[in-house]
Amino acid sequence: SAHKWQAPTATDSRGPCPGLNTLANHGFLPRNGKNITVNMVMDAIHDGFNFDKGAEILRVAAKLGLLTTDEIDNYMLEDLALHGTLEHDVSLSRSDIFADGSGDNLHFNETVFTTLANSNPGSDVYNVTSAAAALDQRLALDMIEHPDLTNTIKEFFVRAIESSFYLSAMGDPIKGIAKQEFVQIFFREERLPIAEGWVRSPVLITNEILGNLTGQIQQLSNWTSGPGCPWIRLQP
Ligand code: HEM
Ligand code: MG
Repeated sequence: SAHKWQAPTATDSRGPCPGLNTLANHGFLPRNGKNITVNMVMDAIHDGFNFDKGAEILRVAAKLGLLTTDEIDNYMLEDLALHGTLEHDVSLSRSDIFADGSGDNLHFNETVFTTLANSNPGSDVYNVTSAAAALDQRLALDMIEHPDLTNTIKEFFVRAIESSFYLSAMGDPIKGIAKQEFVQIFFREERLPIAEGWVRSPVLITNEILGNLTGQIQQLSNWTSGPGCPWIRLQP
């Protein structure tokens, strides 16, 4: 069918976002991951996951993507790896780009993902509490390897939002509870776990729902700021 999962080919563009990569792998976005407009992103996140097209946080993210390219009104998924616009250090499933550019901030990394994968042990779900703990643990581990990583309020806010994304897209957006199996398939294979029993949220995932989950995750975290000021990169 039109939305069957297909692995990307060598020439298809994929980026640091497991959500958008998954939508491309299922044909909700162009499978080549190229020439993507803000409207295409808003339609795809609605059709694939039932995110509200009117949600401000998602509209802002989709529009910020335009700053990662010199194109006027479209981007490719790999453009989104531009460090400092949307892409940040201390991701849950990707390495940091180090100051010398040696890190891979784009591709899924199983070693990095271990922290989230192993969070909430003894349970078969993730929730806002485990999501907050995973953010804290990932930061503590990353600091050992990369003490000069960037960890301002901006990164913390974006990381908490992204955690609300996987909980809501893969689980119950009201409760903020998602099956570990579904979340792991989403990250590792960039696939909708339909065969395993996942269904698209019957509840429209609104800005209010995402803001509520994000706020809970921030509250439950023990985050403290690293040095430096929040900044955003405006062009490649
Ligand atoms: C991370 C872009 C929507 C799930 C990211 C990153 C980018 C990005 C650039 C990399 C940040 C980093 O970890 O360094 C976008 C744009 C969106 C969007 C432009 C447009 C609305 C979504 C949606 C979902 C999602 C709808 C959920 C289905 C995630 C998750 C991460 C992430 C879970 C964190 C990955 C990690 O920490 O390893 N996104 N995203 N995103 N995105 Fe998206
Ligand atoms: Mg990153």
